[in-house]
Amino acid sequence: MTEGPSGASAASTDGSPRDVFATDSVSADLDRVSETQVAIVGAGPAGLMLAHRLSRAGIDSIAIDVRTRETISTTQRAGIIESDAARDLVELGVSDRILRDGYEHEGVDIRFAGASHRIDFRQHVGASVWLYPQTDVFIDLAAARDRDGGEVHYGVSDTRVLDIETSSPRVQFTDTDGARHEIRARYVVGSDGSRSLCRHLVPEEHRQQFFREYPFAWFGFLTQAPMSAPELVYTHSEHGFALISQRTETLQRMYFQCDPTENVEHWSDRRIWETMQQRVAGGDGFTLKEGPITEKSVLVFRSFVQQPMRWGSMVLAGDAAHTVPPTGARGLNLALHDVKILDGVLQRALGSTGEAALDEYEPAALNRVWRAQNFSYWMTQMLHTPTGASPFDVRRQEGELDNVVSTRAGRTYLAEQYTGWPSHG
Ligand code: PHB
Repeated sequence: MTEGPSGASAASTDGSPRDVFATDSVSADLDRVSETQVAIVGAGPAGLMLAHRLSRAGIDSIAIDVRTRETISTTQRAGIIESDAARDLVELGVSDRILRDGYEHEGVDIRFAGASHRIDFRQHVGASVWLYPQTDVFIDLAAARDRDGGEVHYGVSDTRVLDIETSSPRVQFTDTDGARHEIRARYVVGSDGSRSLCRHLVPEEHRQQFFREYPFAWFGFLTQAPMSAPELVYTHSEHGFALISQRTETLQRMYFQCDPTENVEHWSDRRIWETMQQRVAGGDGFTLKEGPITEKSVLVFRSFVQQPMRWGSMVLAGDAAHTVPPTGARGLNLALHDVKILDGVLQRALGSTGEAALDEYEPAALNRVWRAQNFSYWMTQMLHTPTGASPFDVRRQEGELDNVVSTRAGRTYLAEQYTGWPSHG
């Protein structure tokens, strides 16, 4: 999902980094210069998880973000975490709140032609996922950084990333009190989200950007209502896609397919519920439990990958390097996988192996990235109804869905992709 930018704010976006950033005169007005091993641009879950992992290995970092802590804590994002990532959060001492406040899901419902079909993860691949919102992952990580004395600056402005083609890159920014800082580091990590500016520091002639736009978006909302289903329900209907997700016993998260230009102001609670009920309706009488709607937003999405994921002393992680449509719930999981690999790579790079260790990062991360791109794309095109879809198109999608839910191979495939793959980290 595309949300606000989360890192470098004023870096120029084109031309070579040297041309853009070789400005020695900027050093003159610095209020504070800090030295650290890794400067992290973007302090969302990917950036903070990396900082947390590195600090456990005795490696110092400083993280910055253009967003305030409050904004990151309250921006609604997806809520499904692979069990390996959930276990890491607990075992690496971030928090065990996921075990108390999260919900373990051992399956998912795929609903089409008015009937639900459960895919049992445990039965098919011996796995599960956790429903635990990304905002809570961030809240836990930010608290862990506080607890461990980690340095994080939120709400920064005028970020500049300098000298990434050297072995002494720098990051400059202005803090919320107006003081101008410079971080001198050995490596810079760009984990600045789907509207990353760090990614533009890879010179244009050396970077490849792969992307695909979709002719629809998601209308997402929170509602104060009881759960309508114990697990997620991904729904295909001739009227468009709908997703039933949950947050707590009394707060639910739901989405429906809409036009990318849709204006949330045009949607009353009544109209939203009519749309949702129409999409999930079927012969089994399934209906949604309604309640007041407390938050609404339109999420425009696309598939995107940038290669290379590393340039000089800078590496990209998470949405900065690749974004996926939210349909397969892969985004946060991919980002956490990147930083798991990056943790080991940076430890070796800062240890006896030296910079050559950085060469290991992209091949290890990219394999999973393209698998996840395929899965997210596949789920998206299978479940959404493009405007102008013919009756043939809709029936063909139902045929595809039927192949998935009523064959062992189909169910196993979906279960394996949805719950994640073994880590290369
Ligand atoms: C969510 O709970 O917000 C959620 C879950 C699964 C998705 C996307 C979003 O695929």
